[in-house]
Amino acid sequence: MVSILVVYGSREGQTAKISERIVEVFDGRGHDATAVAVEDITPETSGETFDAILVGSSIHLGKHAKDIYEFVRENRDVLEARPNGFFQVSLSSANPNEEVQAEAAAYIDEFVEGTEWHPDRIAKFGGALRYSEYGFLTRFMMKRIAKDATGDTDTSRDYEYTDWDEVESFAADFAALVETGDVSAGGESEETQA
Ligand SMILES: Cc1cc2nc3c(=O)[nH]c(=O)nc-3n(C[C@H](O)[C@H](O)[C@H](O)COP(=O)(O)O)c2cc1C
Repeated sequence: MVSILVVYGSREGQTAKISERIVEVFDGRGHDATAVAVEDITPETSGETFDAILVGSSIHLGKHAKDIYEFVRENRDVLEARPNGFFQVSLSSANPNEEVQAEAAAYIDEFVEGTEWHPDRIAKFGGALRYSEYGFLTRFMMKRIAKDATGDTDTSRDYEYTDWDEVESFAADFAALVETGDVSAGGESEETQA
């Protein structure tokens, strides 16, 4: 059994939901996993006491949250001293169009460049559109963004694009990496999901 920390930055809750599903996969394999919102990190959950760490972050207006950047910059040595991985949650990952996928990949490139952290594993997941939870201005803006991104502009309902099989297989792959301790298996910084 190993201990695994999942630190996430989530504004509307989808990255939190994905983190909880990943924890369920780890727990199901007999590990001791914990998901913590980056704003709730304490010295006890800063990462040093865990055998492996995953960081999850959602995209808003083309950017990862500032506190996720800060967490990674401040804890890069801790991350790199144990098996580590990163997953990104965005609307663009929900669209198979090549140009839109390139946009999602560019968010990751920018994050890696900005933090100088090269995760052992990287994944991109589709997020959600929660019109029912947005204020008036955000709903208006998201309707316009969604028109190009997914075409889902019916603001009377919510949309979830996360492929849960992809999430579970990423979690299983990461768990296997931690169990074998062989971070080089499958490539140094391999992107396991499209
Ligand atoms: C105000 C706002 C701006 C967003 N900007 C982008 C964006 O630039 N690119 C993108 O792919 N997704 C964008 N999204 C979609 C989010 O990444 C998606 O809703 C995701 O599920 C949010 O994750 P969270 O619930 O964990 O915060 C945006 C969403 C909101 C509400």
